[in-house]
Amino acid sequence: MTDLSPEHASTLARLLAQVAAASAAEDLRAIGREALEKGGVVADLLASIPTLPPAERKGAGQAANRIKAELEAAIDARKRELEDGALLASRKVEGFDATLRAPRVERGALHPITQVVRELEDLFTSMGFEVLDGPEIELDWYNFEALNIPRDHPARDMQDTFRCDPAGELVLRTHTSPVQVRAMEKRRPPIRAIAPGKVFRQETTDASHEHTFHQMEGLVVDEDVSVGHLIHTMKTLLRGVFGKDIEVRLRPGYFPFVEPGFELDARCPFCKSGCSVCKQSTWIELLPCGMVHENVLRAGGIDPAKYSGFAFGLGLSRLVMLRYGIDDVRHLLSGDARFLRQFHRIG
Ligand code: DAH
Repeated sequence: MTDLSPEHASTLARLLAQVAAASAAEDLRAIGREALEKGGVVADLLASIPTLPPAERKGAGQAANRIKAELEAAIDARKRELEDGALLASRKVEGFDATLRAPRVERGALHPITQVVRELEDLFTSMGFEVLDGPEIELDWYNFEALNIPRDHPARDMQDTFRCDPAGELVLRTHTSPVQVRAMEKRRPPIRAIAPGKVFRQETTDASHEHTFHQMEGLVVDEDVSVGHLIHTMKTLLRGVFGKDIEVRLRPGYFPFVEPGFELDARCPFCKSGCSVCKQSTWIELLPCGMVHENVLRAGGIDPAKYSGFAFGLGLSRLVMLRYGIDDVRHLLSGDARFLRQFHRIG
């Protein structure tokens, strides 16, 4: 290390002594300033370099750097000492005991619905679908009217809802299907979209009914879309969820916004000859779906003469219950930590 002249060595020693004696961060800052700023020892040394004979310049520069480095290191160390001292003092006051057990930090986990939604989003985006969102407080138009369910239609009785305004124009959405129309309004075919989310119904709650539950809507609109495409997509969905090929069957199902409409049943993934999940039938009713009704295409601004589409409304809550063997839908939104703790898997 560079030797300092006796004069510089004693300046440095004086500064280091000041640092050691400092009792506050401001004092340390002042000592630093005094040495490094104009008029200070380091600044002076550097300023003097051009006036020195060339042979001495290097030595002067190195001396300045050494003083600066030693001083800064001492200031940092003293600063830390002061901070530690303050911490210890405050611990003394508070009665700190290093032998006490630290409070246990509970590690959270994703809700089982979130876990399944994320898996489904991965699966569908890999097939070129977009993931859409829609409002939970919806206009009567999107929730019913545009889906071919006019005011006096008996199908409204199946989805009694909560009205949010005296005129009855705003409802809590009873299904995710309104996102279909919103999606069509803003896009031109080809459209491929899913829309997971919460839906609400005026229900008497029991183990399989809850006023708030989750669905996932799916919509595909393009030229020449057929029931074949629908079946293929549903089988891909089921393979993704259950990890194996699942046989399906279609039964006619009535929903005003599809024609034809189907109930797609899946062969029970849990048994071969009947169990409590499939109520001994080996089939599970899982996926209402169908070909988008031409009135719905029109409501979305799409020409039914040119385009066709399919849609499905997956009962997410039900699917999650099936997958994890949950016997009461009310557990899902209970917020009960004992229930949630069983799904500790960061997914
Ligand atoms: N929205 C319907 C319901 O909640 C479910 C449904 C049926 C959605 C058929 C669809 C469909 O997209 O094609 O009961």
